[in-house]
Amino acid sequence: MVRPFRWDSERKVLQLLDQRRLPSEETWIECAEADQAGDAIREMAVRGAPAIGIVAAYAVVLGFARDAGNAPASRFEDLAAALLNTRPTAVNLGAAIARMRTRLESLVTDSAAERVRGLEAEADRIAAEDLEANRRLGTLGMGLLTGEGPARVLTHCNAGSLATSGYGTALGIVRALVESGREVEVFAPETRPYLQGARLTAWELMADGIPVTLVTDGMVGSLLAARDMDAVVVGADRIAANGDSANKIGTYQAAVLAKEHGVPFLVAAPFSSVDLETPTGAEIPIEERRPEEIVEIAGTRIAPEGVPVWNPAFDVTPARYITAIVTERGIAHPPFAASLARLGGTSGIT
Ligand code: MRU
Repeated sequence: MVRPFRWDSERKVLQLLDQRRLPSEETWIECAEADQAGDAIREMAVRGAPAIGIVAAYAVVLGFARDAGNAPASRFEDLAAALLNTRPTAVNLGAAIARMRTRLESLVTDSAAERVRGLEAEADRIAAEDLEANRRLGTLGMGLLTGEGPARVLTHCNAGSLATSGYGTALGIVRALVESGREVEVFAPETRPYLQGARLTAWELMADGIPVTLVTDGMVGSLLAARDMDAVVVGADRIAANGDSANKIGTYQAAVLAKEHGVPFLVAAPFSSVDLETPTGAEIPIEERRPEEIVEIAGTRIAPEGVPVWNPAFDVTPARYITAIVTERGIAHPPFAASLARLGGTSGIT
């Protein structure tokens, strides 16, 4: 199981598996400065809501390791503002930065080295908690896929080890099923335009020997009509208080089609992706990205020069299409406003 980042504590350097080059090359890039980590998030060398949050936390450590500054609070706010600007939809980014701010404020020291150590410990904790949350929600979510024979799961984008501290959310449920001895067959839509399904989900599942079949995004309806699918399982970038869930563009249509075909639609996410401050999906900021991502494939132009392009990176699946939201704190069922609020007030399974 691959992890998308490595923290070198000795050298205070963050190494990132460059996901732009997968699956053809496994290249690691080194970030010694906070800016470099911010660029890696913006340019999607690292992506996936939980991984973005963790990398942002380490970026703060880098910012303090390279330039202690005389006024830690204003140094922190400069770093936070730059990082928050990189990708707006995943709430994990803001949540990780908020934790780093709280940690900084709790450090009573004038020593720059001690400050870095304290911040580093918090970033390590965020990363470790994410891994633990994935394993726990994987085990919980597995309980929703009962039945005989191979579990057939349709996913979208990459909500796997590459998008997290390791193990994954949607693919964490898949891994838990495999570990329990159940046969699993995953269907991965290629996920235009960035092709996380074709490049990343197919790669990481094949690396672990988990059966995966690649389809194009336009095949999802036919697939759900033609094959007995046990569930659609996706990740989330932000889950609003009413359960509306933002995830990679294309998730919404899979949810509508799942309902049409009577297939359970599960959202799997650590509780750090739940944003109880955002009432509904309408208030979730949706990132729009460069037109080149659509009009070019691997640097080759495929559409006429000058054609207008709309490139939202995420869509919002209304709560009414979601069967259950699986978190490490427990499984939320409709009505989500009540079940998510209940989980928000607890740290154990309810
Ligand atoms: O644009 P990306 O690749 O960062 O989008 C990723 C997704 O939409 C994932 O499904 C989501 O972040 C959950 S990852 C556990």
